[in-house]
Amino acid sequence: MTYLNFPKNFLWGGATAANQLEGAYQEDGKGLSVADVLPQGKDRFAIVNRPDFNWTIDKSKYRYPNHQGIDHYHRFKEDIKLFSEMGFKCYRFSIAWSRIFPEGDEKTPNASGLKFYDEVIATCLKYDIEPVVTISHYEMPLHLVTKYGGWKNKRLIEFYKHFAETVLTRYFKQVKYWMTFNEINSAWAFPVMSQGLVANNGGNDRQTIFQAWHNQFVASAWAVKIGHALDPKLQVGCMLLYATTYGYDANPVNQLATLQQNQAFNFFCGDVQVRGEYPAYTDALMADNGFKFTDLDFSAEELTLLKNHPVDYIGFSYYMSAVVETVEKEHAEVGGNLISGIKNPFLKASEWGWQIDPIGRRIALNQLYERYRKPLFIVENGLGAVDKPDADGKIKDDYRIDYLKQHIEQMGAAIHDGVDLMGYTPWGCIDLVSASSGQMSKRYGFIYVDLDDAGQGSLNRYKKQSFNWYQRVIASNGTDL
Ligand code: BG6
Repeated sequence: MTYLNFPKNFLWGGATAANQLEGAYQEDGKGLSVADVLPQGKDRFAIVNRPDFNWTIDKSKYRYPNHQGIDHYHRFKEDIKLFSEMGFKCYRFSIAWSRIFPEGDEKTPNASGLKFYDEVIATCLKYDIEPVVTISHYEMPLHLVTKYGGWKNKRLIEFYKHFAETVLTRYFKQVKYWMTFNEINSAWAFPVMSQGLVANNGGNDRQTIFQAWHNQFVASAWAVKIGHALDPKLQVGCMLLYATTYGYDANPVNQLATLQQNQAFNFFCGDVQVRGEYPAYTDALMADNGFKFTDLDFSAEELTLLKNHPVDYIGFSYYMSAVVETVEKEHAEVGGNLISGIKNPFLKASEWGWQIDPIGRRIALNQLYERYRKPLFIVENGLGAVDKPDADGKIKDDYRIDYLKQHIEQMGAAIHDGVDLMGYTPWGCIDLVSASSGQMSKRYGFIYVDLDDAGQGSLNRYKKQSFNWYQRVIASNGTDL
């Protein structure tokens, strides 16, 4: 049975992040960000976790594709026009913190940075596209890491608060939907992008990561508070990386391990941000990681702030599911969206090993909605694949259409189950630089960008086969798949 009954005001759109598409990494006063020092390659996280890593750019050894991105900084008008041609109702993008506060600790924002987002937002509105803004997406000013040590330092709360207040105040009349931190829970695996932590400044130490999370939770609650003071109707959400997690078999030991992995990875950050308090399993989780809650630096006022300012909705990414096995570890491991696990014999995987699981999405939606009873927003999903133009220059990405179609069907099924789903913004609606590998060849878009991994190409934009397909999907409100 297929259920495709999407609400009339369903937010169909697409998603990007500043550091992965804008480029212009030092233009108009922009400062360096953590993303700017991430070298290209599947080993980019291994490189930054070497003991001698010192946050510098070394062009003699590495390429840094984020510096150029897809040159969206100079082409955003053309790109947003293409989004509007597809019929986007919304467009999720992030504001580069280092464009607004180049070092992060300034009092006065960089006017040219603000001017850029004034224009991006105005362009969206010109086409009746609702902007959905991520305040911080894997891109913090580098200076906040080199001078303050990243998110483990409580001073970051005041710097983020100032940044959030600046952009919320400037844009609250035009932007209704916000998210505070992209994939906040991803720090379990790679804290460099969201917390500015690597092996040599605390990134290997769980207590440090939890301290950084606590500071981010407080900062996020400030953003909610400031947003609601400006306009109580503003929707400020969290953003989680969600990977539906299965136990390998009926062995209760594996099932218990699955429950614990869900608590730790999928739910811990959301529990605090949505419910406004640390969950019941906090002490157990921290004990398992070798420390106590009271070892963290927190205050009663901060806990009250968390309680009083939970998020309005749950934004999350869903690309794949994971399998947990703690007994008889005889089955092969596979990689994935910043997490790894056991290979699921029932699923196929992308070329990058991410296990494709549309039904897992229906399960994810039900799990999150049963737990939180707040609106959900799938703000990332998609298939990273190598697209090759054929002899006529056409990109026939039927594999992407097939992936998205199956995932949209499961979204419809979850709505049938009673889930309140606000919208859907597939990731990288225009090809952009991969977060985990810095590759251009890992493409998600409906729009092809002529640029290769070596930085060669015209940067021209071309519509893929999926462009017209998604246009039909939106025009039919999800019924014509
Ligand atoms: C999510 C991130 O993890 O997945 C995005 O929020 C990222 O920034 C996306 O790009 C896809 O991952 P990747 O590694 O294929 O770019």
